[in-house]
Amino acid sequence: MTILVTGGAGYIGSHSVLTLQNAGYEVIVLDNLVYGHQDLVENVLNAELIVGDTCDRPLLRQIFTDYKIDAVMHFAAYAYVGESVTKPAKYYQNNVVGTFTLLEAMVEAGVNNFVFSSTCATYGVPDSVPIREEQPQNPINPYGATKLMVERILQDFSVAYDFRSVCLRYFNAAGADPEGRLGEDHNPETHLIPLVLQTALGHRPSISIFGTDYDTTDGSCVRDYIHVLDIAQAHILALEYLLKDGKTDVFNLGNGNGFSVKEVIETARKITGKEIPAEVSDRRPGDPPALVGSGAKAQKILGWQPQYSNLEDIITHAWQWHQKRHQ
Ligand SMILES: NC(=O)c1ccc[n+]([C@@H]2O[C@H](COP(=O)([O-])OP(=O)(O)OC[C@H]3O[C@@H](n4cnc5c(N)ncnc54)[C@H](O)[C@@H]3O)[C@@H](O)[C@H]2O)c1
Repeated sequence: MTILVTGGAGYIGSHSVLTLQNAGYEVIVLDNLVYGHQDLVENVLNAELIVGDTCDRPLLRQIFTDYKIDAVMHFAAYAYVGESVTKPAKYYQNNVVGTFTLLEAMVEAGVNNFVFSSTCATYGVPDSVPIREEQPQNPINPYGATKLMVERILQDFSVAYDFRSVCLRYFNAAGADPEGRLGEDHNPETHLIPLVLQTALGHRPSISIFGTDYDTTDGSCVRDYIHVLDIAQAHILALEYLLKDGKTDVFNLGNGNGFSVKEVIETARKITGKEIPAEVSDRRPGDPPALVGSGAKAQKILGWQPQYSNLEDIITHAWQWHQKRHQ
């Protein structure tokens, strides 16, 4: 079986390539390297890398002609929420038009299994947590809107064409390959755990806590952190589900319990043995107090069993990677 992995040079994509290879799949990576890491694909994963863009229709046609692709895992997207507010056109172009171009090329080539990286950002500010799949989706930024639009396109394609998809709505991806081969390396970085670890390494003077007056146990925001290898494993399960004729569906990838910003910082202090200075700032507009997702449906239907749901494992693996990559 050969799987085309778009965005496979990025954070979650590269861990998914590793997991696919370990499960015996052939992998071809398509990445434009705007944010991806060529060295990881070529030197760590030893996967075939096609440097190109999902908006490039002739290239996609060529790929589907040259290779017998059984399924596509689609990670390629821009994912900076703040930037999506100031540069929405960039996000609609890449995340919607790029995905649509890929989907059209798949239908044309008769490749009909698709696993899509969706996000908890499609829910917006939830009325209750843990969030379940049937709760309303009201994204509050263009990034979330682009992902919701793709979800809608996928529903319509599965009605009209011989085409099936699984949307995985991840909560906060975190952690790294426990053997230290891969990890998170975004530039710019906006995610809490890598920012905390960069502070531990002395690359940042302090970490900001945005708001300590939320209605949560310690007043800081609560988020659901999912180990990147648990996300990768869910992709394999989603792929197997589709290959066994599973119907188009959507699943949350959440652990069902969250950790506050203060808990993350405290745990990182214990694991790193570093002081990690923190300062309290104002709330950021649009930050919900708690974003926690129920993974019950993925557990029931896909058989997903997260292996690394405790925060210590997640931060330990991330710390090993950051020390190696950024020391
Ligand atoms: N990181 C998270 O916590 C999180 C949470 C929910 C959803 N997601 C989604 O998961 C996916 C992967 O996220 P990530 O954190 O690994 O991001 P990432 O930026 O590390 O990886 C994305 C990769 O896609 C590539 N890319 C972007 N646009 C492309 C295009 N048009 N053609 C070819 N390649 C392109 C980039 O170069 C990069 O290597 C994204 O779709 C993101 O929206 C991420």
